[in-house]
Amino acid sequence: MTISTGPENPRDRLIVALDVPDVEAAQTLVEALGDTVNFYKVGMQLAYGGGLDFARGLADDGRQVFIDLKLLDIANTVKHGLESLAQLGATFATVHAYPQTMRAAVEVRGDSGLKILGVTALTSLDEKDLIEAGYARTPEDLVEFRVRAALDCGIDGVVASPLEARRIREIAGPNLAIVTPGIRPAGADRGDQKRTTTPGDAILAGADYLVVGRPVIAASDPAAAANAIVDEIEDALTKRGD
Ligand code: C5P
Repeated sequence: MTISTGPENPRDRLIVALDVPDVEAAQTLVEALGDTVNFYKVGMQLAYGGGLDFARGLADDGRQVFIDLKLLDIANTVKHGLESLAQLGATFATVHAYPQTMRAAVEVRGDSGLKILGVTALTSLDEKDLIEAGYARTPEDLVEFRVRAALDCGIDGVVASPLEARRIREIAGPNLAIVTPGIRPAGADRGDQKRTTTPGDAILAGADYLVVGRPVIAASDPAAAANAIVDEIEDALTKRGD
């Protein structure tokens, strides 16, 4: 059985996080990356700086777009928010993996083509951070709990640390796409990420898509950095037999 639920072209598995302050900076980056990147993530920083129209433009140009606003609100508000994101042409959108929120998301997803990802536990959180936030669980326990909830609710995938990808694949089989941020090529600065692996190790652990921000967007040559990651993804896919 293949463990992959991801796309065939390794390049389509790299999602570059456009964590930049404004549309001008995003445009410069997308131009610099050219054909090396097909999939972009628009998160809070850019979305709140005019980035949703920019995201619509990317989708209109045939790029895939991941809107990462990590929705968590009453069901009615989440539904209407996701309806708007579906109209924008997004491929992925995130909600926090709370059952009520995930059920609302599944209800509105319909046949729009929008896929819903649940955020299990932020990759910047370790056990101490969870205790401080009122959770009496380790990050691993919380992730497992939320993966089972995601399966029950019927969403499309989860966002999780690459260190949890193997366990998630064991629990979910091919029924959830696994999207992993917290990726750091060998020797790269970890920044605030606490649970990281290299691109190759994330794929070997069963990740379908890798979200990469700073290692690409802060590189002196972003296209070369993206290409190196795609090569690593391709090698790891060959190793794992995809
Ligand atoms: O720069 P870096 O590669 O750390 O960026 C990772 C991206 O993935 C950021 O946009 C961050 O918001 C996002 N993300 C994450 N952890 C999650 C969900 C999303 O780091 N659990």
